[in-house]
Amino acid sequence: MQRPFFLATILTELFGSHAAVAQLKSLIVAPGLWIMMPLMAAAGGGGVFVAKSRKGRLVDAKKKRMPFIAANGLLVLVPCAIMLSRWAAAGSFDTTFYVVQAIELIAGATNLTLMGLNARDGMRMAGRLRTSPAAVGRAH
Ligand code: HEM
Repeated sequence: MQRPFFLATILTELFGSHAAVAQLKSLIVAPGLWIMMPLMAAAGGGGVFVAKSRKGRLVDAKKKRMPFIAANGLLVLVPCAIMLSRWAAAGSFDTTFYVVQAIELIAGATNLTLMGLNARDGMRMAGRLRTSPAAVGRAH
């Protein structure tokens, strides 16, 4: 779900003007974060709800990933997005901007990976992905 932010950030910063970067940063904060945060809460809450009737390795793995995804989002990605948006609006594209930008991209890639793993394990449980016999055996 964070993929649009990630790709737009890389493309705009490689090829776009400072004004384009500032506009994107502003859009990521509003309405971006206002859309993203309820969706993430819904994914986590909905997952925990459907997991009530489920046990096994795949559910446990998803449950363990969720606090990292949430902490990474709230403690790293949201503050980074807000700071970068303010600095870009002020035209201050200094070293600090790019250091924080690098931190945001690394944290973003981490969360994309963790969410991808959650989606993969979810689809395995729902029977939408082929699973190795060993994994099925351990999941039930
Ligand atoms: C970033 C967070 C999450 C994402 C992106 C995600 C994604 C998915 C996806 C794509 C499916 C497959 C749905 C289908 O094909 O019908 C799924 C199913 C599932 N998810 Fe998640 N999930 C997340 C969080 C969680 C959490 C925190 C739990 C609880 C531990 C959880 C438990 C489950 C369960 C049990 C299923 C299987 C439902 C069934 O039996 O059909 N998910 N998830």
